[in-house]
Amino acid sequence: MTEKNKPVKRRLNHRFRFQLLHQWLTKKYLPCKVADVGGGKGLLAYLLSQSGFDVTVIDPLDLPLPPRFKDLNKNRTKLKPEERAFAKKIQKPFEEEMAKDFDLLIGMHAHGSNMKIINACKQYGKDFLLLPCCVIDEPIVKRPGVNWINSLVDYAEKQGFEVKTERLNFVGQSLVIYTDKHLGLISN
Ligand SMILES: C[S@@+](CC[C@H](N)C(=O)[O-])C[C@H]1O[C@@H](n2cnc3c(N)ncnc32)[C@H](O)[C@@H]1O
Repeated sequence: MTEKNKPVKRRLNHRFRFQLLHQWLTKKYLPCKVADVGGGKGLLAYLLSQSGFDVTVIDPLDLPLPPRFKDLNKNRTKLKPEERAFAKKIQKPFEEEMAKDFDLLIGMHAHGSNMKIINACKQYGKDFLLLPCCVIDEPIVKRPGVNWINSLVDYAEKQGFEVKTERLNFVGQSLVIYTDKHLGLISN
């Protein structure tokens, strides 16, 4: 089959970012202790915990899980009211020293916490996975023509991290930047 004739995999709505990241992580890594910084409603944390990961949401807001969500096959799961409070939650702003209790720190659209997560991983020898969206509340000045995500990769590399990237199949900012030096690998 030529490149031209290859079927194009349609990108999903960005609402499926949790399901796609869950699928990618569980295919690649053995379960570990995860902090979902700025985890919001906790859907990623819920999905990962269903796959054996020990996940804590760190977020100053106490938001319930959505009442229903679809998996990647478009099957619907309904959660009862009593199932919608994600059990493991630190209801506080993220502080670097919180990293010491986890193997992997995830920041998906974690406003203002991306650089702090990198600093924390450096200090405590942990891995990070970031899906950064914007520079809001980060200790960096946005300069014209300078891509924020590239700046973040540079920032981590200057601290000695071997940064990897991966694009997930959804519409919008879908670039994941991550390290996996300390994680148990299932596949490359
Ligand atoms: C844009 S939402 C992202 C939520 C979810 N990760 C997602 O992808 O939909 C940003 C989240 O970061 C949380 N947040 C804001 N400041 C924070 C901080 N200092 N530490 C941890 N979480 C924070 C907000 O409460 C909010 O839930």
